[in-house]
Amino acid sequence: MEYTLEYFQKSADYIRSIVPWSPEIAIVLGSFLGPFTDAIEDPIVIDYGDIPNFLVSTVQGHAGKLIFGTVAGRRVVCMSGRFHSYEGYDFEQLVIPVRLFKLLGVKALILTNAAGAVNAEYRPGDIMIVSDHIKLTGASPLRGKNVDEFGPRFFDVSRMYTPELRKLARACAEGTGLTLHEGVYMFFTGPQYETPAEIRAARILGADAVGMSTVTEALTAAHCGMPVLCLSVMTNMAAGVLEQPLTSEEVLETAMAVAKRFSVYLKNIIERIGEVSL
Ligand code: HPA
Repeated sequence: MEYTLEYFQKSADYIRSIVPWSPEIAIVLGSFLGPFTDAIEDPIVIDYGDIPNFLVSTVQGHAGKLIFGTVAGRRVVCMSGRFHSYEGYDFEQLVIPVRLFKLLGVKALILTNAAGAVNAEYRPGDIMIVSDHIKLTGASPLRGKNVDEFGPRFFDVSRMYTPELRKLARACAEGTGLTLHEGVYMFFTGPQYETPAEIRAARILGADAVGMSTVTEALTAAHCGMPVLCLSVMTNMAAGVLEQPLTSEEVLETAMAVAKRFSVYLKNIIERIGEVSL
């Protein structure tokens, strides 16, 4: 499959035939963080399966819907359910959502995810603003023929997690009851959780948290010059930090427990995003 500009335009044309306005901000919701969608006013909901040249969600906790609407007076599009390499998608396919957002006129991307805490100072339920990432496994989503209309073949990623948005995110946590950190997210392909040895290696390499998503979307956004904010919810201590084995139930329980406070936090950020020139 060749991913040309026309490929992505087909999805965008379909969305434009349903949503008569341009979203300013795109939000990608991580596992079990779906309750944020309750905050979206006047929602227009589109099933992934109805969008030409899009993908479908196959994992529990990922609804598989694009929701257009208003949050704190701003027009947003929210992806409830994201795509991961472990579902069997090629890395090249994982550019699809962010390129669609770009064509729809999105000015900033807010990524959220559930992650395991590698940093021993962190606790389940804490939030980490991602300052940078490490991805040593899996291909780049930007491999293959470059689509010049989106960005150049070679591109800088040293300011991928936009410093101004991180500063805003630090300022917006007050009053939410959330504990905030800022750190490095390390990508693992999954679907297995990491081994204790991998987590020890991740810590030595400088990672504060680990997860199976997000970096492909951040890289796609960097390629097309879209500012990114990424917020990770620490749903568990990473493998080997505690004696007990990891379970997806633990991830679900922690994500559900913070989802409401996290939604308030996200809303605060969207409300004040005008303080950052995008
Ligand atoms: N590892 C990878 N992905 C995750 C984890 C983890 O510990 N927790 C939630 N998503």
